[in-house]
Amino acid sequence: MTPVSFASVDFDPEARRGAVLDAPTLGTLYGIGVGPGDPEWITVKGLRLLQSVQVVAVPQNRQGEPGLAFAIAQQYLRPHQTLITLNLPFTTNPAQLGTGWGQSMTTLMPHLRTGRNVAFLAEGDISFYSTFSHVARSAQQCEPRLTIESVPGVCAPLAAASALNIPLSLWHEKVAILPALYEVSELDHALDWAEVVILMKVGSVFDQVWNCLRIRNLLDHACLVEWVGWPQQKTWVGWQDLKDYKPPYFSVAIIKRELDSASFPRNI
Ligand SMILES: C[S@@+](CC[C@H](N)C(=O)[O-])C[C@H]1O[C@@H](n2cnc3c(N)ncnc32)[C@H](O)[C@@H]1O
Repeated sequence: MTPVSFASVDFDPEARRGAVLDAPTLGTLYGIGVGPGDPEWITVKGLRLLQSVQVVAVPQNRQGEPGLAFAIAQQYLRPHQTLITLNLPFTTNPAQLGTGWGQSMTTLMPHLRTGRNVAFLAEGDISFYSTFSHVARSAQQCEPRLTIESVPGVCAPLAAASALNIPLSLWHEKVAILPALYEVSELDHALDWAEVVILMKVGSVFDQVWNCLRIRNLLDHACLVEWVGWPQQKTWVGWQDLKDYKPPYFSVAIIKRELDSASFPRNI
C-alpha cells in the first residue's frame, strides 16, 4: 500500500478547496403523501423514497402515539430505519402552534444536520391541508440551505369520489372545496357558485349542513364518505335518512348538482 504523504494531501489544491469550502452536508427532507387509507395508494416514487431514508418522521395522534400516516405506511418501513414522532398540535392557537413546531424542529433538525435524509409522512396529499407545509416552513427557517422535496399523494376527496364510483367533475363543472365550515353562509355561497362542493371536516357541522341542503332541496344530491380506504369505510348517496347523524372526523361530503343514476357506473 502506498503510504499517504501528509504533505501531498496538504498541498493538493482540490483537497484544500474541499476542506475550506465544504459546509457540513445536510440531509434532505422529503414530504411524502401516503394517501388517506389504503396503503396501496402511495405512489411508486413515495414508496421508493420512503424506503431509501435513514429516518422516518410521523405526526403523533392525540394520544401521543404514531398517528394515521404511520398506520398507513407502517408495513413499508425497514428494520434499520429510525422512527421519530412529532407532536404537532391540533389547534389554531398561534402560541401553541409555535411551541409545537419549535419542539418538532428540536427533534427533527439534528438528523438533517448530521446528513441523514428524513421522510415526513402525511396522511392524504402532502400539500392539501397538511401539517407538512408548516413543518417544511419551520425547517427552512431553521436551516435555509436545507433541500426539501415533496411527493404528492391521493387526497381524501379524490379517494371519496372513487369509493362512490362517481366522476367528481365533468365538462363545465366548477369544484369548490371548503376546508371547514365556520358559517353556513359560506356553504350557500359555494353552492351558488360551484356545481360540485366538497366539505372537509364535515363531522362537527353536519346538522347545519343537513339543514342547509334540506332547505335548498339538495339532500338527494349529497354524498358522504367516512374513513375512505379503511376497513370501516362507509358511503352514503342521498342524505334523507341522515338527519341527526354524527359522522366521524374522517369524513368528506361531496354535494353534486348533477348527481343522477348516470353518474354511477356500478352499483355501490
Ligand atoms: C387536516 S385534513 C387532511 C387532508 C389530507 N391531507 C388529504 O389530502 O386528504 C383532515 C380532513 O381530511 C378528510 N379526510 C382525511 N382522511 C380521510 C379519510 N380516510 N376518510 C374521509 N375523510 C378523510 C376529513 O374531512 C378530515 O376532516
